[in-house]
Amino acid sequence: MEKIIVEGGNKLNGEVNISLAKNSVLPIIVASILSPNDIIINNAPILEDVVVLSDLLTGMDCEIKNDSNGNLKINTSNIKESNMNSELIRKMRASFLIMGPMLSRFGKCKISMPGGCNIGSRPIDLHLKGFKLLGAEIEIGHGFVEAKAKKLKGNRIYLDFPSVGATENLLMASVLAEGTTIIENAAEEPEIWDLANFLNSMGAKVTGAGVGKITIEGVDSLKGISYTPIYDRVEAGTFMVAAAITNSKITINGANEEQLRPTIEKLKECGVKFENIKENVMLVDGTGTKNSVDIKTLPYPGFPTDMQAQMMTLLAVTKGSSIITETVFENRFMHVAELVRMGANIKIDGRTAIIEGVESLTGCEVKATDLRAGAAMILAGLVAQGKTEISDLYHIDRGYVDIEEKFRGLGANIYRVDK
Ligand code: UD1
Repeated sequence: MEKIIVEGGNKLNGEVNISLAKNSVLPIIVASILSPNDIIINNAPILEDVVVLSDLLTGMDCEIKNDSNGNLKINTSNIKESNMNSELIRKMRASFLIMGPMLSRFGKCKISMPGGCNIGSRPIDLHLKGFKLLGAEIEIGHGFVEAKAKKLKGNRIYLDFPSVGATENLLMASVLAEGTTIIENAAEEPEIWDLANFLNSMGAKVTGAGVGKITIEGVDSLKGISYTPIYDRVEAGTFMVAAAITNSKITINGANEEQLRPTIEKLKECGVKFENIKENVMLVDGTGTKNSVDIKTLPYPGFPTDMQAQMMTLLAVTKGSSIITETVFENRFMHVAELVRMGANIKIDGRTAIIEGVESLTGCEVKATDLRAGAAMILAGLVAQGKTEISDLYHIDRGYVDIEEKFRGLGANIYRVDK
């Protein structure tokens, strides 16, 4: 079994290069189903989630090639709906995003119900409500969801909650629909803007993405393009917390200040200093005393749930009491038990965690209980006394490219072993 070993205590210094955003690349890969022409995603991060999605599309007779420059070339002209591998669909929740583009292209799509996952039940009701409003008939049975519509027709869709996945699925379904679609209370995450920008570069007519009310004028076809997605704001945020927790100063190449604002503002409240050296390059000064802070996770531009575990780790070793309220996912505190094993003083009451900062953590065997919780364990390991051994690395590999190499480049004592 592979493990990441972190020997705590090293300060970090130097520069780290952030990869492009997983949460942009996944919807962009499935959106390439909307055009029969070549799509090139420049510098695509080859993460486990990208590999799973590529395998799914390859199994459906699409061509996906990774060239030597790290670009992903996709051609879906021969795609076959019937060859969809249910096991791969169930492996990754984001694969449900295939529904929108497939329904749009084939007028039908039958797909295995996405499984629950360890951070919450993650229903798909908002996706389905939207497809119905676009004229699709939906049937659920025997573990599958089937949607059918001869031709999708634009409509006004109000989302009860600004779900990222539902917004993306409906956006992709409506770019080739007849007429105008309006998605209200749409998610505003930067990755939504990125997907809309990608679709517009292909010839779609999408306005308002990133500001809550998206208007889509259906077009007849989309062309092939080459596209560079945005940087991964969660990876950048993880390294910002790393600078803070190790009392270090580091430079982050690939940090968009605006997209990272919710994380940066909270870290500033903690006492971390930032300097935007040039576009997408930030100097993070995590030296000096830190303050305890309260955090509530919310849809963007609120504080991201994907940064909650990492911030909790910082607060676990910050003097004073902090309160974190998780409002996005109902079960996203699995890392608390692991942090407590390392000596943290954290109590959970429903969706709230009360953190009393301790002087230090001690290294031990811990698990990556989900993707961001795994990153949080690495952060804890960086400051813990002695050795931290992290298992269940598949969670971490789903969303971080070369994470231990990147931390080693900054001076951390971290390595992967197979034992
Ligand atoms: C995406 C991100 C994930 C991030 C999350 C919230 C990707 C691949 N993943 O996940 O990293 O943590 O946004 O920022 O981009 N919900 C419903 N009904 C639905 C859909 C969602 O009730 O039909 C609920 C979910 O159960 C959850 C909340 O809405 O409580 C947020 O989910 P959503 O925004 O859809 O997250 P994902 O798209 O799955």
